[in-house]
Amino acid sequence: MARLVRHDATGPRKLEEDDIDSEKGNVAICQCGLAETYPFCDGTHRTTRDERADELYVYETDEDDVRARRVVEDVVCSDE
Ligand code: FES
Repeated sequence: MARLVRHDATGPRKLEEDDIDSEKGNVAICQCGLAETYPFCDGTHRTTRDERADELYVYETDEDDVRARRVVEDVVCSDE
């Protein structure tokens, strides 16, 4: 399982005391890369639970703000 996620941020996000979940007393940092509240986990990682270990996934959001994923064979980068 692997996934490609595009991020637009160009700098860090400093954690503040307000970022701590008052009920749980912790801060959950997103490691799947899909959270709408990135860098904080919002539970979106649950959509990755059925990813297969031998597949590469691309998650994309369309013009209607609907996120979909697809399996790709490979990713080729170009300087064009
Ligand atoms: S780890 Fe990414 S949304 Fe939870």
